[in-house]
Amino acid sequence: MKIIIAKNYQAMSKLAADLVIRELKEKRQTTLGLPTGSTPLGLYKNLAKACLGEKISFKEVKTFNLDEYAGLAKTDGSSYHSFMQNKLFNFIDIKAKNIFFPDGQAKNLRQAGAKYDSLIKKHHGLDLLILGIGLNGHIGFNEPGSDFNSKTRIVSLKEQTRRANAKYFAKAEDMPRQAITMGLATIMKARKIILLAAGAKKSAMVKQALTGKITKSAPASILQNHKNLTVILENKAAKDLMAVKPHNY
Ligand code: GLP
Repeated sequence: MKIIIAKNYQAMSKLAADLVIRELKEKRQTTLGLPTGSTPLGLYKNLAKACLGEKISFKEVKTFNLDEYAGLAKTDGSSYHSFMQNKLFNFIDIKAKNIFFPDGQAKNLRQAGAKYDSLIKKHHGLDLLILGIGLNGHIGFNEPGSDFNSKTRIVSLKEQTRRANAKYFAKAEDMPRQAITMGLATIMKARKIILLAAGAKKSAMVKQALTGKITKSAPASILQNHKNLTVILENKAAKDLMAVKPHNY
């Protein structure tokens, strides 16, 4: 694992964007895995800027989002479809047919999970997956207790997660109780992973996930086993980690 500590949020976003830009320059047909949340917003701005400046193109890129709420229409302003459209896809030259999400509206959500995993496989797997981290160590919507062998599936959201994400809904009670998420095994199959974390609130979990025991109670801890993981932390999110000085920086 490579850990980079950035001096602030802008620097974290720029470093992450540089890695994605490098990937896209090396392989025009990159298959990207993408997260939602406030953490990647700066990265998305940088990517949009690079695309506008014709430094990179997404014309041959395929994207697979990590997760989507169950039961929300794609067009719902709080769906992850809308989020991605408004924060990234509207500003880059990606083709609509190359954008994929797990289907949170499927009649059979079990089948929808398996279908998403086979679709990723059909596209030869994820070249690069970007991840954020939840306060309780979730990645995607793999909440504490998720099986390390889990595939894309329907999950129930923890109260802490619902509280943290309620800001994206007009009324807190509008927030779905379930979501469909790439599983931890699906995530671990990505050839490269970049994990981003910003803000002091994430610091304790970042330290636990990266230096503590690999345990289902901190799902992100499984990333310690990934062969090509780059962690980019805003310095506030690295506070606790720096205090223990792990040897593998
Ligand atoms: C959501 C998403 C995760 C994301 C997390 C952190 O729960 N499903 O993929 O990493 O939020 O969000 P934020 O970046 O806003 O802290």
